Amino acid sequence: MAAKPETKPSQWPLIVVTGAGGFLGSHLCEHYLRRGQKVVGVDNFSTGTPKNIEYLRGLPGATTNFSFFEADVCAPWIQWLQSSDRPLIFHFASPASPPLYQKLAFETMAVNTTGLERAMDWADRFGGRCVFASTSETYGDPLVHPQPESYRGNVNTMGPRSCYDEAKRFGETLVYTRNWKRGTAHGLVRIFNTYGPRMNPSDGRVVINFLVQGLGREPLTVYGDGTQTRSFCFVSDLVNGIARYAESDLTEPVNLGNDREFTILELAQEVRILFGNDLPIVHRALPADDPVKRRPDLKKARELLAGWSPTVPLSEGLRLMLEWLKSTEGSAK
Ligand SMILES: NC(=O)c1ccc[n+]([C@@H]2O[C@H](COP(=O)([O-])OP(=O)(O)OC[C@H]3O[C@@H](n4cnc5c(N)ncnc54)[C@H](O)[C@@H]3O)[C@@H](O)[C@H]2O)c1
Repeated sequence: MAAKPETKPSQWPLIVVTGAGGFLGSHLCEHYLRRGQKVVGVDNFSTGTPKNIEYLRGLPGATTNFSFFEADVCAPWIQWLQSSDRPLIFHFASPASPPLYQKLAFETMAVNTTGLERAMDWADRFGGRCVFASTSETYGDPLVHPQPESYRGNVNTMGPRSCYDEAKRFGETLVYTRNWKRGTAHGLVRIFNTYGPRMNPSDGRVVINFLVQGLGREPLTVYGDGTQTRSFCFVSDLVNGIARYAESDLTEPVNLGNDREFTILELAQEVRILFGNDLPIVHRALPADDPVKRRPDLKKARELLAGWSPTVPLSEGLRLMLEWLKSTEGSAK
């Protein structure tokens, strides 16, 4: 059964979103602003864009309810966040696409460890809760399929993806250890590939890549033979699941995504249909440690998150994303 979108206001008086200028962070801010909540966003724009903040400032009620700080969340928070309200902090700041986290490797490791500790410190100081954006990359190139939360992963500590995968894994350990040692109740969600409006058009992730290539009437680039699989979640489904998790008192990892699995060639075909079915496909070498299969086991999410389930089919999500991309053409970062 499809879950109704979460429409209740948060039980938390203040929502803080790190990475507010990015794709998921801006959608989280929008989710709470549309419910009349007080939201503070922070971003250093290392991979995000001020355009997402401008968009948020234009939402109803944002003039009074939204504040934004341009800052590095690895620096001490006291200098920019002055509030004694109990915060629900979404720690979503981090480069997320392979080309960008590989370019910003040290920054990626710092924001998922030092930055996360700063976020949890702030939450603890004011009686709040922090929810960390972890990832399906903690499963690496999985030997178990689909991936349940109990699977411990198959991850390379020394490769081009390690700065991201291992930083997220250590971030999970930081959350777990703080809860264990200090009796706090921070949480984390393991997010699988998500797509939608406000993704950075040049960040190299496959859905936005294909759509940008399609709009430019360029061939679609498939890495390897295209038989590797991914599952793609539309952003509204993901944000609905994250909000349900955040409002609960869960501290254990929960997978969030869409469990319909596609090969990259099937995704390319869905995109070709949007552009009249005549775009050629070119193949390039598969990057090192690229996972062969990826699909979340969503049993736990469905059980624990009040009947939550992804609802938006890939064809519909791609159409919505293309509409957005066309409306921003020429103004993309
Ligand atoms: N989108 C996905 O499919 C996906 C999947 C798994 C996990 N995640 C996680 O979700 C989070 C958000 O991902 P996204 O897709 O929105 O990426 P994104 O790159 O669009 O957004 C990340 C934002 O964090 C900001 N940022 C990075 N380092 C910062 C720092 N030190 N201080 C302040 N701001 C900083 C960037 O400028 C950017 O605006 C990330 O933690 C990512 O690892 C995303």
